[in-house]
Amino acid sequence: MDWSKHQILEKSSVLLLLGILITVAIGGLVEIAPLFWLSSTIEKVSGMRPYTPLELAGRDIYIREGCYLCHSQMIRSLRDEVERYGHYSLAAESMYDHPFQWGSKRTGPDLARVGGKYSDEWHIAHMTNPRAVVPESVMPGYPFLAKRALDYGDIADRLTVLREEGVPYTDEMIKDAKADLEGQVDPNAAAIKDFLARYPKAQVRQFDGDPSFVSELDAVIAYLQMLGTLVDFATFDAAGPNLR
Ligand code: HEC
Repeated sequence: MDWSKHQILEKSSVLLLLGILITVAIGGLVEIAPLFWLSSTIEKVSGMRPYTPLELAGRDIYIREGCYLCHSQMIRSLRDEVERYGHYSLAAESMYDHPFQWGSKRTGPDLARVGGKYSDEWHIAHMTNPRAVVPESVMPGYPFLAKRALDYGDIADRLTVLREEGVPYTDEMIKDAKADLEGQVDPNAAAIKDFLARYPKAQVRQFDGDPSFVSELDAVIAYLQMLGTLVDFATFDAAGPNLR
């Protein structure tokens, strides 16, 4: 073969760079482009629903306090991870997360399936002072969350913004966002049936044990207790029935 023409490329760094860029771009297109059309990339999984207003407020505090700097929410499909944390995370499980909370560092454990692992009382004690329940813990305490009233005057706007980003909040959910938030910590609320119809599997109770006001801790615990609880893995089959 006559390689003399290749010398043109080898002797000009600009041409070589251009050649490399074109080659890499083709490789990238072949790998990335099909993901936009494959239905399995964005599989719909039954059970997933948008966050309730209270869970969403808790999630906002999770972001505000930087919990994601120490905690991931992404169980990888490796045996040690699955044995420790449960079923590996599905893409659909973060489809309503804007921004997603996969994280990139685990100073503490993964939280993707922490919902239901502990009692509310455990979370109250742990959030107030982690060393009270886990003596060797290096997690900072967040005792102020229980004392601070949750600021949710703009909760309907927060739902509206997420709807713009593609989260299927209905007009009704947005209209009743404030009442739904207050109702989730009040098992005696009149509209609780409507609330549960809108948000299946939502947990309704006094999360922080103090009924006198809705605290930031109420929201954080409501959020932690629902993480990973929406998809029923007894019926989920990664091979397909959930694909639509
Ligand atoms: C400096 C790192 C750090 C930060 C920031 C942090 N954590 Fe932790 N977290 C840890 C460590 C380490 C553990 C394991 C020891 C323990 O349970 O306290 C842990 C444990 C936990 C657990 C128990 C998980 C399990 O499966 O046992 C929960 C829940 C939790 N953290 C929630 C939070 C929340 C919510 C925030 C933000 C308000 C937060 N963490 C911020 C380091 C951190």
